[in-house]
Amino acid sequence: MRDAEPKAIHLADYRPPDWLVEKVDLDFALHPSQTRVTARLALRRNPKGAAGAPVVLEGDDLTLVRLAIDGTPLAGSSFEATGNRLTLAHPPADAFLLEIETLVDPTANTQLMGLYRTSGNYCTQCEPEGFRRITYYPDRPDVLSVFTTRIEADKQEAPILLGNGNLVESGQVPGTSRHYAVWHDPWPKPSYLFALVGGRLAKVADSFVTASGRKVELGIYVEEGKEARAGYAMDSLKRSMRWDEEAFGREYDLDVFNIVAVSDFNMGAMENKGLNVFNDKYVLASPETATDADYSGIEGVIAHEYFHNWTGNRITCRDWFQLCLKEGLTVFRDQEFSSDQRSRPVKRIADVRMLKAAQFTEDAGPLAHPVRPETYREINNFYTATVYEKGAEVVRMLKTLLGEEGFRKGMDLYFERHDGEAATIEDFVSSFADATGRDLSQFSLWYAQSGTPVLNVSGTYDEAAGTYRLDISQSVPPTPGQPEKKPMVIPLALGLVGPDGRDQPLMLGNTPVERGVVEVKEATQSFLFTGLDARPVPSLNRGFSAPVNLVSDLTEADRVFLAAHDADPFNRFDALQRIALELLKTGARTGTLPAPDALVTAARAILADPALDAAFKAQALALPGEGEVARELAREVDPDAVFAARKALRVTLGTTLAEGFTAAYAAGAASGAFSPDAASAGRRALRNLALDYLAVTGSADGIARAKAQFEAADNMTDRITALAVLAQHDVPEREAALDAFYRRFERDALVIDKWFTLQAQIASPTTLDRVKDLMLHPAFSLANPNRVRALVGAFAAANPTQFNRADGEGHAFVAEVVLTLDSKNPQVAARLLASFKTFRQLEPARRGHAEQALRRIAETPGLSPDVADIATRSLA
Ligand code: TRP
Ligand code: ZN
Repeated sequence: MRDAEPKAIHLADYRPPDWLVEKVDLDFALHPSQTRVTARLALRRNPKGAAGAPVVLEGDDLTLVRLAIDGTPLAGSSFEATGNRLTLAHPPADAFLLEIETLVDPTANTQLMGLYRTSGNYCTQCEPEGFRRITYYPDRPDVLSVFTTRIEADKQEAPILLGNGNLVESGQVPGTSRHYAVWHDPWPKPSYLFALVGGRLAKVADSFVTASGRKVELGIYVEEGKEARAGYAMDSLKRSMRWDEEAFGREYDLDVFNIVAVSDFNMGAMENKGLNVFNDKYVLASPETATDADYSGIEGVIAHEYFHNWTGNRITCRDWFQLCLKEGLTVFRDQEFSSDQRSRPVKRIADVRMLKAAQFTEDAGPLAHPVRPETYREINNFYTATVYEKGAEVVRMLKTLLGEEGFRKGMDLYFERHDGEAATIEDFVSSFADATGRDLSQFSLWYAQSGTPVLNVSGTYDEAAGTYRLDISQSVPPTPGQPEKKPMVIPLALGLVGPDGRDQPLMLGNTPVERGVVEVKEATQSFLFTGLDARPVPSLNRGFSAPVNLVSDLTEADRVFLAAHDADPFNRFDALQRIALELLKTGARTGTLPAPDALVTAARAILADPALDAAFKAQALALPGEGEVARELAREVDPDAVFAARKALRVTLGTTLAEGFTAAYAAGAASGAFSPDAASAGRRALRNLALDYLAVTGSADGIARAKAQFEAADNMTDRITALAVLAQHDVPEREAALDAFYRRFERDALVIDKWFTLQAQIASPTTLDRVKDLMLHPAFSLANPNRVRALVGAFAAANPTQFNRADGEGHAFVAEVVLTLDSKNPQVAARLLASFKTFRQLEPARRGHAEQALRRIAETPGLSPDVADIATRSLA
């Protein structure tokens, strides 16, 4: 067990480790309940550590069997061992070999951290602090060591034995039914990148030849019988490897690269050196079982974990405060990869939608924290949208400010300087400053200040002078622990769109604006653009160049104009969304939707524009979600009113544009065999959006169309969207289709997750009872994170009217599940609890219910540090 009341850890208190590990040999004798781990640590005093410091190694829930120094067993008086700490107060020398034997029980491990079992197989998860659940160790990312791992197991039980690095030896243990494998990883790494897998798995094999001609054996290991579903993951892996060579000059550095797909996993995937472990949701796909979103998720996560090999593994983090150093940067890299593989504007739109939904809400609530936090109690709770998604935005802004070439120079210098090291954000930023000669000190505030900046922009055209002045003011709202903020550097990409719809010249005085980006640095600042012979409409924050809330004086008419003409596709999308958002906000506040004529005009033009691709149209025509409307309203939110406004607007668009949607539906019909490529996915996205609009009133022909599509579908995207459309309506076809879907896919847990999610999202007062019933369904299990997320997670995060029921029953239910889950899997419980993060936006009655549910949790004795931390911060 961990400390009951963990202390706050502060970035300012960082000290180098007192002891280093030169190399480590691990020996695992795998056993379902008594796995014996022998660790041999070549310890050496760190000259940079505190003089005379004792050896203090972290542990968690460990049973110590034996301890020896340089081969001599240690007497009980010369050390102190508890479940979570091993102390040698008087180390015998400044360098010695410490041998530690521990026993761990992988079957009893329900936290899924450390060594655990999933579907009978053994696997590990060590980031961030799981290695200490395997053996005593300086379990911190700035202690790098060379690992050799011997794994021994019953050959029947675990014919496959995998470790980090390259396989150096394997064989039978003489006279037994056991066999072994020895893996050696030549690259020094911190303990969080350690992994092993043992079990009965099928291998999909391929190979890759690197730019310099080295051959790498690729393996994807899946449950037996699932081999055919690993093809897209393998293809994504090879494309990722090539792309990192081309875009960043980064080659792979081992003889093998293995991926293992497991069904019980706390997050998406893990970048262990040479042995990535994946949630099988991000590996397995077939047209019948995976949606287009699943395919792009697989491509993105495979790329993400692979890219960590350089950004995370070769250069790792000095401490967990620097988490965004690897995560923000690697998300940026996987976003760029997907942009190059698919459509750049559509990818950007999808990413910004996600950023706003997840990160802007986090930044606006009680859990707001800087991209690089300065204090934490439980590091597991900082794998957040802020660290990942906003962290990626900060890297993107660097690139926008420095340009393609400056950015690449900075990255190259970062790799050159810090390869093999545990680095900091300062190291990263300095590489760019030094490579380009730019002062990035003010820019670094992006890492330190939490909260989403607000940018107020107004424009004045002077006809006589031919000038256009933009007056800009910025502010960052107060966030927990940060009442006062400084002005940020905001790279604002913009264009001035002339009456003919074309960009006018962008000149400040006589100087053209480089790359169309101005830098806002002051609290208030003006830019005077010259040489304009007509009043332009400004297209601001093109491509969402900065993650800010933009408030401008653009009129609805300006937005209709931009939606039709802006050269920047992102801003065409954004203009339409903004028109819709304003309608929805007024609708939710007053109960009456204003006349939507402008939106209808803009939407009709986009729908009919032959120059636009289907994927873009689908994004532009999908209304902002209930969550986004709530976030924009910011306070006194009544989720039922938001839902009603959105429903009314969907009905209006669906009926007024019925002709266009009918045409789009027909035009989007498949012509050949299924393909997951971006163009085909875009075609399906628009067709399915049209289906939704055409059925939004619940009319008989709308329902019939959805039912027909549900039955005829030859792929999961079409089938599940049709089912989702039916599920929104209280019609007999709904239950019939849900039953048929279940029967068809009952042996396929990942597909049944979609079935759980879809039902958890139904905006009906009967949904809570439905979700409670489904928790008793044989296909559900609280022990499996995917099941919990699919059912309870979806209810809490994607059903605002029912989670926030006026009677408080939704909040009470989720709180109950959090408490039950906490004793099994605190990480997943804490994540579920974080769905309360928007509760302060709510109107007083609902807010009160949420607060009561949070208090009930906070007051429960024996909480995990994970859940206690979220509850405390949410209530602060
Ligand atoms: N480092 C992983 C990634 O983003 C995610 C991760 C962190 C993780 N902690 C974890 C995954 C715990 C599973 C369990 O790529
Ligand atoms: Zn990552």
